[in-house]
Amino acid sequence: MYFIITKQLTWPTIKKTSILLILGGFQGFLGWYMVKSGLVDRPDVSHYRLAAHLTTAFITFAYTLWVALDLIFPNKKNIDRGFRNTIRIGLIILLIQIIYGAFVAGLDAGFVHNHWPMMSEGKFMHETVLIEKTPLYKNFIEGKSGVQFIHRILAFVVLISVIFIYLKGKMLAISKYQINGLNLLMILVGIQLLLGVLTILLQVPLWLGVSHQIGAFLLLASMTFTLHRFSK
Ligand code: HEM
Repeated sequence: MYFIITKQLTWPTIKKTSILLILGGFQGFLGWYMVKSGLVDRPDVSHYRLAAHLTTAFITFAYTLWVALDLIFPNKKNIDRGFRNTIRIGLIILLIQIIYGAFVAGLDAGFVHNHWPMMSEGKFMHETVLIEKTPLYKNFIEGKSGVQFIHRILAFVVLISVIFIYLKGKMLAISKYQINGLNLLMILVGIQLLLGVLTILLQVPLWLGVSHQIGAFLLLASMTFTLHRFSK
């Protein structure tokens, strides 16, 4: 309001910050909605609502960064639309992985199958992945083993998509910001995978769970930055 009254915001920035205001308000609503699902009689909340709350927090943060980047880099340049779409797909994959991470945390699914790369001795997919819940599909959204299995698989998909973005981006990059974004993305995905694997192997000590969450946050930031630098 202060910046609007003192006429420091352009019309496009007012539009973007209004979206931020709505996102921030929605985040507050989701927090209340999540807490409503538990904490009264039992200290737990629905993993769906936890995932919704975590994901909107991440999206609100990413969009805030985007608005800031628009102000920091106001000049437009020619872009490769194909590559921009590639990064957008990478971002969607990353967001799905973040949702599944919240499912793992919300179901306490990090306390089962504490082996890696196998889920248990010699088994890439533990048998409980398919039989914990009925019908079958529920295993992959509500079963501890099933949800953990998807989070493990998606980690490889995220890694492959980041490697692809990195290699393609290196061929197209012309500015130091683009190169820095790509390097950061590649380093952070490596750290994030390592933190995830350690979280599983050491049975989710609090400090590792939190570090892994911060890792996801920084990875999303680096992908948002890279997308911005190859988009505008
Ligand atoms: C790019 C890769 C990954 C991303 C972006 C990612 C992201 C996330 C996120 C956002 C959470 C939720 C944190 C929370 O709400 O507390 C989470 C939880 C978790 N992730 Fe990942 N993850 C990745 C890879 C992995 C890998 C490779 C493993 C292990 C094989 C793993 C194991 C876990 C576990 C055990 C939790 C639950 C932690 C808890 O209960 O607090 N993650 N992940």
